[in-house]
Amino acid sequence: MNLTAEEKSQRSRLNDWYQLGQSPLMLSIERSVCGCDYGASSWTTQAEAQEIASLLQLEHQTMLLDLGSGSGWPALYMAKITGCDVALVDLPVEGLRIARTRVEQDNNSGACWVAVADAAELPFGVATVDALCHADLLCCLKRKLEVLSDCRRVLRPGGRMVFTVISVVPGLAPVDHVRAVTSGPEFIESQASYPVLLAEAGWTVIEQRDITREFTVLTRQRLTAELKQRSKLEAQTNATEVEERIAGGRSRLLALSDGLLKRELFIVSHDQ
Ligand SMILES: C[S@@+](CC[C@H](N)C(=O)[O-])C[C@H]1O[C@@H](n2cnc3c(N)ncnc32)[C@H](O)[C@@H]1O
Repeated sequence: MNLTAEEKSQRSRLNDWYQLGQSPLMLSIERSVCGCDYGASSWTTQAEAQEIASLLQLEHQTMLLDLGSGSGWPALYMAKITGCDVALVDLPVEGLRIARTRVEQDNNSGACWVAVADAAELPFGVATVDALCHADLLCCLKRKLEVLSDCRRVLRPGGRMVFTVISVVPGLAPVDHVRAVTSGPEFIESQASYPVLLAEAGWTVIEQRDITREFTVLTRQRLTAELKQRSKLEAQTNATEVEERIAGGRSRLLALSDGLLKRELFIVSHDQ
């Protein structure tokens, strides 16, 4: 696996984030805002995870692959409510370690595999998984087309993939485009739109759903909760980190209010 300096730095930051995400304070913020306590770093709420599980028609013995699974959200929760088997893939080892501990605690009925791997070079054979999901993964990496192509390779024909992604609203003035890019996830920029990339990778789009409103509500709630707990957060990490996090939340919320960012949910299928 050849990671660039940027990717290595992202992995290291996320390793720290997944550790911090397990603190009682962060878990309580997550519970109050997202309805879950897995140490999530995406914007997937419990309601959204339930919807994705239903769209993927998960059940006992379905093999679900979650890419960029972090500390196990939302795949472990979906395994808990449906009884499906699950494979988790990500780059930061710390998140996957936390996920493995969670598997032991949750005692889900299905099996769980965990792999440190690049989503563009999946360690799975052709047509070996029944369903695929990823939560805000594509806006956190550069090789979007390669990931979408490799997802299609490992999914059985007839299977579905459901994912969320944040992107820059097209057609913005240059100054607004820059604001959108700087207030969004690290690799939000894409050479082509997601429908174009999906078509290039051979996917059929069943539905493209705009979920920006829900994303805006969640961003506002998370920012409010973190501001309320600011001094406790500072005692737990450091003032600079908390300041940067809060500034990031504010700039994202402003970009959302100005219509510069969008979050979408795609339901796609692997037709032969
Ligand atoms: C927004 S986070 C979502 C994490 C988790 N699923 C959640 O909902 O909390 C995106 C994840 O994608 C992972 N990621 C980024 N680039 C990746 C790559 N090339 N291969 C695998 N995972 C990657 C990151 O490490 C991060 O954990």
